[in-house]
Amino acid sequence: PKMSLESAKRIAAERAIDNHVKDNIVLGIGSGSTIVYGVQRLAERVRNENLNIICIPTSFQAKHLILDNGLTLGELDKNPVLDVAIDGADECDIELNCIKGGGGCLLQEKIVASCAKNLIIVADHTKNSQYLTERYKKIPIEVSPIAYVPIKTRIESLFGGDLKLRMGVAKAGPCVTDNGNFILDWFFEGSPTTDFDGINREIMMIPGVVDTGLFIGMARKAYYGMADGSVLEKE
Ligand code: A5P
Repeated sequence: PKMSLESAKRIAAERAIDNHVKDNIVLGIGSGSTIVYGVQRLAERVRNENLNIICIPTSFQAKHLILDNGLTLGELDKNPVLDVAIDGADECDIELNCIKGGGGCLLQEKIVASCAKNLIIVADHTKNSQYLTERYKKIPIEVSPIAYVPIKTRIESLFGGDLKLRMGVAKAGPCVTDNGNFILDWFFEGSPTTDFDGINREIMMIPGVVDTGLFIGMARKAYYGMADGSVLEKE
């Protein structure tokens, strides 16, 4: 019997929590729909095993997931070094480079990931790709609102493709991130040989770019929930 995508997300997130959470750690909590199952499992384990876990959120959503589940909310000011961060991804390649930011939370996600000794990705099998943009066709870029037109123009002329200002849901006008910025979705024609590391470095140098959804060389391990009910572990 084939598993639903929601079940696939759940088994991946639960396995990651079971394998990486132990007592007295500082844990980064990602954003999106998959991590929700992980936080539920975490809350269960904290109650049953009486664990002391400090949770660092990667977004408004994550902060309230932590609070709603009765977990301990930490902050980077107090806990600048994390043992582990667990987060979803929009796509993850064979070297565990990721595209993130589909849900709009890339900046805080990347900051938290950069503070973690280990970044662990949890996802269903549809996120598991050979190369970036194989299946997920856009790269989110978080930008300062005053610079979105120059940045769009610059990237289109340097690298091609099409950048679109992400619009709000149930809101007139652009989507505003947790950190008050805009998002440009870069519809990109990738190939297996695209140098995303180089592209990312160049884009990061453009004034007004706050961060990109390219997480290159950051993840240590990925857990994919498969259609047959198994969990594929890649590192
Ligand atoms: C949030 O902006 C994204 O980076 C998420 O981490 C990503 O979209 C994963 O979300 P799902 O778990 O819903 O696929």
